[in-house]
Amino acid sequence: TDVQGHIKFKDVSFGYNNNGLVVLENFNLEIDPGQIVAIVGPTGAGKTSMISMLLRFYDPWQGEVSLDGVNLKDLTLESLRSNITLVLQDSFIFPMSLADNIAFANPNASREEIIKAAKAAQAHDFISRLPEGYDTIASEGGVSLSGGEKQRISLARAFLRNTSILILDEPTSALDAQTEARIFQSLSSYSKGRTIFIISHRLSTIRHADLIVTIKDGMIAEKGTHEVLVNEGKVYAELYKY
Ligand code: CTP
Ligand code: MG
Repeated sequence: TDVQGHIKFKDVSFGYNNNGLVVLENFNLEIDPGQIVAIVGPTGAGKTSMISMLLRFYDPWQGEVSLDGVNLKDLTLESLRSNITLVLQDSFIFPMSLADNIAFANPNASREEIIKAAKAAQAHDFISRLPEGYDTIASEGGVSLSGGEKQRISLARAFLRNTSILILDEPTSALDAQTEARIFQSLSSYSKGRTIFIISHRLSTIRHADLIVTIKDGMIAEKGTHEVLVNEGKVYAELYKY
C-alpha cells in the first residue's frame, strides 16, 4: 500500500460513555513514519484506549486522529484496518496447524515466508522442536501451547501481515526478558518504512525505542529517548526505578 504511517493525535479528548470520565484530555502526539514508539504509563493511564482510537474501535469526543494527514473518519474502516496490525496480550490461536495460524491473514504465504516471520518472532526454535514442526495442530485435540508460545505465534502472524502500522499492546508479557529483547531486535530491522507502537510494562525492553511517550492522568507527561527521560527524573524515571 502507499500508506506512510504518519500519525497525529490533535487536541484529542476521549472517555467511555458508560461513566462519563475523561480518559484522555488535550492529547497531542505526532509520530513520523519508520519510528518505534513506546507507550509507557501506569496501569489505567489510557494506553490501550489511545491505540484503540487508531483502529477506530472508539472515536475521540473532541479533536481528531489522522493518518498521513487524513482524518481517520474520512477513511473507510476497511482501508484503515487493512493498514494496521494489532497484537494484544491475549493471543488467539486457531485449531489448525501452526503454519496456518501464522499465515492466517496471508493464506498465500510460502513456507519460507512463514519461517522468516516465525524466526523474527522467536518462534522458529520451539516450533522446529515439535515432532510435526509447522504442521503441528494447535489446541482442540492438538498440542497445547504455553502462553509465551501463543504470543510468539501471534507475533509471527503480525510480522507476516506486513502492514505499514504495527501496534503491540503488551504482546510479550509472558516471555522472559531475553526473548523479549531479541524480539525487539527483530522489530528494529522490521521497522524500516513502518510505524510501530509498543506498549510494555517492562521498561528494559523498550529502552531502545526511537521515542518513548509516557501517559499520566490522561495526558502526555513526557516524551523522548530513554536517556533523556531518565535524566528528566519525572514519570518515566520513577517507573524505571522498579
Ligand atoms: N476504561 C473504561 N471502559 C473501557 C476500558 C477502559 O472505562 N471499556 C477505563 C479504565 O477503567 C481506565 C481508563 O479507561 O480508567 C484507561 O484504561 P486503559 O486505556 O485500558 O488503560 P491502560 O493504560 O491500557 O492500562 P493497563 O496498563 O492496565 O493496560
Ligand atoms: Mg492496556
